[in-house]
Amino acid sequence: MRIVDIIEKKKNGEALTDNEIQEMITSLIDGSLPDYQLSAFLMAVVFQGLNERETLTLTKAMRDSGDTMDLSKIKGIKVDKHSSGGVGDKTTLVVAPLVAALNVPVAKMSGRGLGHTGGTIDKLESIPGFQVNISEEDFISQVNRMGFALASQTSNLAPADKKIYAMRDVTATVQQRSLIASSIMSKKLASGSDAIVLDVKCGDGAFMKDVKEARSLAETMVKLGNGAGKETVALITNMDEPLGTYVGNNLEVIEAIEALHGHGEKRFMEVVYALGAQMLLVGKQAKTKEEAYEKMHRAISDGSAFEKFKEFVRSQGGDISYIENPEKFPKAKLVYEVKSISSGYVKKIDTEAVGETVMRLGGGRATKEDVIDLTVGMKICKKVGDAVSTGETLAVLYANTKEQLKAAEQEVLASYHISNEKVECIPMILDEITE
Ligand code: URA
Repeated sequence: MRIVDIIEKKKNGEALTDNEIQEMITSLIDGSLPDYQLSAFLMAVVFQGLNERETLTLTKAMRDSGDTMDLSKIKGIKVDKHSSGGVGDKTTLVVAPLVAALNVPVAKMSGRGLGHTGGTIDKLESIPGFQVNISEEDFISQVNRMGFALASQTSNLAPADKKIYAMRDVTATVQQRSLIASSIMSKKLASGSDAIVLDVKCGDGAFMKDVKEARSLAETMVKLGNGAGKETVALITNMDEPLGTYVGNNLEVIEAIEALHGHGEKRFMEVVYALGAQMLLVGKQAKTKEEAYEKMHRAISDGSAFEKFKEFVRSQGGDISYIENPEKFPKAKLVYEVKSISSGYVKKIDTEAVGETVMRLGGGRATKEDVIDLTVGMKICKKVGDAVSTGETLAVLYANTKEQLKAAEQEVLASYHISNEKVECIPMILDEITE
C-alpha cells in the first residue's frame, strides 16, 4: 500500500493493519518517508486515535527499530522504573539502591533533562567522576555484582521514536495518548528489563494535568507492557507541588543522600515507598505490600540502602567522599530567602513554573545543547496546606548571578497562591493500575 493511502485510511477513521503500521516505521527508518507524510500521519492519529492493537503494533515496531538490550546474562528478575517526568523528582536515586539492597536487580537506562523537568543522569553527573557512559559489558557485570547500574540511554535505542518525537514536537501532535504511551514504552521495552514499574505523574508540574487523563495514559502503558510480555504496573502520583524539598541537580543528590539516611521528607518518602513496594512485588522479593514496607524500612534504618548507593557510585567512578560528606558539593555563590508578602495557607504552587525558574537559573536545559549549572536551584520551605505569615520564608534560591536572582524572586512569588481558608493536602498516591 502507498503511504498516502495509509494516511487516507487513518484520516477516515479506519483501523490500520499491522503490516501498514510496520510499513510506516520501516520507511521512516530507511529514510524514504518524507517529513510531510509523517506529519500528516501523526495529525490523522491525533484526530482519529489508534485502537489497542494498533498501539501495541506501533510500540513493538518502534521498539524493534534499533538496538534492544539483552539482559539475559543478569540473574534474577530485572525491574525497571520509569517516571513520566516531574519537578524535584529524585525518586530513582533513592528507590533503586533501596530495592537493590533487597535483591531486586535494577539495570536502568536514563535520559537527560529537557525543559522544566530534570534528568537523573544530570543529577548523578554532579558527583565528581561519576560515569554515565558505560559499556554494555560493564553495565551487565555491575548489575550481576552489586544489583544496580544506571547508564545514559544509547543513541540507537528506539530510533523511530526519536524521529517521531522530534516531529511531534513541531507539529502540535505531542498530546495524544497512544503516541505518548508508545513513545515511552518502546524505549522501556527495548531496555530489556523483565518487569516495569511506571510512575505516571499527574498535576501542574506533569505532562498529564488531570487524574482522568493520567489514568487513561497509565492504563494504556500497562496494557502495552503486559501485551509485550513484561509484567507492568503503574502508580499515578501527585505533581501539584515539587517533589520533596529541593529542586536543582546537586541539591537533589544531597536530598537523596539524606533520604537514604532516613531523613527524607514525608511526602517524598510516600512516593519512594509506594514505588519500591511495587518493585519488590514484581521482582518477587516480597509477597505482600506490608512485607515490602517492612523490608524497606529496615534497609533504610540499618544503612544497607545507603551502603548500596555508595557502592553504586564507587562502581561508576564517582568520588564517594562526596556521598560520605555531602557538604563537599560545590555551592552556588548566592543564597536568597524569598519572603511571603501575604498570610494564610498555601493553596497551590505552580509547579511547572518552579521547574522553569530553576531552568532559567541555569539548572536545566532550554535546548539540548545547553550546559547546565549543577549548583543552582531552590529549597521549597512552604508546601501545599502549610500555614504562612507575611515575612516568612516561602523558598530559598541558590543562584550564581544577581540578575537571575532578582527575576527568580518575582517568579517564586507569582508561583505561590495563598488562600485565607485552610487547605487540605492532596494525597501523593492517586491510583494504582495493575492490569
Ligand atoms: N516522554 C516520552 O518519552 N515520550 C512522550 O511522548 C512523552 C514523554
